Amino acid sequence: MTGNNLGVFIVFEGGEGSGKSTQAALLATAVTAAGRTPLSTREPGGSPRAEDIRKLILGAESADLDPRTEAMLFAAARADHAHHTIRPALERGEVVISDRYIDSSVAYQGIARGLGVEQIRGMSEWATQALVPNLTVVLDVDPEVGLARANDPNRLEAEPLRFHRAVRQAFLDFAQNDPARYLVVSAERPPEEIHKELWTRIAPLVTP
Ligand code: TYD
Repeated sequence: MTGNNLGVFIVFEGGEGSGKSTQAALLATAVTAAGRTPLSTREPGGSPRAEDIRKLILGAESADLDPRTEAMLFAAARADHAHHTIRPALERGEVVISDRYIDSSVAYQGIARGLGVEQIRGMSEWATQALVPNLTVVLDVDPEVGLARANDPNRLEAEPLRFHRAVRQAFLDFAQNDPARYLVVSAERPPEEIHKELWTRIAPLVTP
């Protein structure tokens, strides 16, 4: 795809407890079985420096982090991740599978925190030199169900239910506005069943 050479860039998005890491692992196994090399990564994080920034953003000691600082730290981590991890892997022709990317910032910071969609998207597009995924999979789950499942509480999870409802709606809206680049699947089903549905859409992208 444009600018990605032969690599393929796939992103998982969704609210808390939507099963992104389980689906990312199942997808990596399927990609390997199809004869391609997967690179599994995540945000915030995915490169040594971005993992340091992750600790700064999500740690309990950052309870007083102001929303604009938070938004810029997510973007800074993403710049490092795109530069040091994602682009090189795509240039090697790998299939990059990222647990979260730019849409998380637009949903959480831009919409749920109210910092502005254009500002937040613009900052991350600048940070990544407009590195766009080939496909974004939205794992859709009712936030009440997802939050009950989530087992690694962080500062964002502690936000009220209306915050998480806004995040959910944001992902659904992004997908509706660009169906060619998104796949929405209901995450309230057995993981294998979800994986099969994903693979039907992803296999043609990764199979040479
Ligand atoms: P993590 O433990 O990775 O949660 P999850 O398993 O839900 O992905 O924590 C990441 C948290 O950071 C999560 O609550 C979503 C939030 N987040 C943002 O607010 N903005 C962003 O740009 C990103 C990447 C994550």
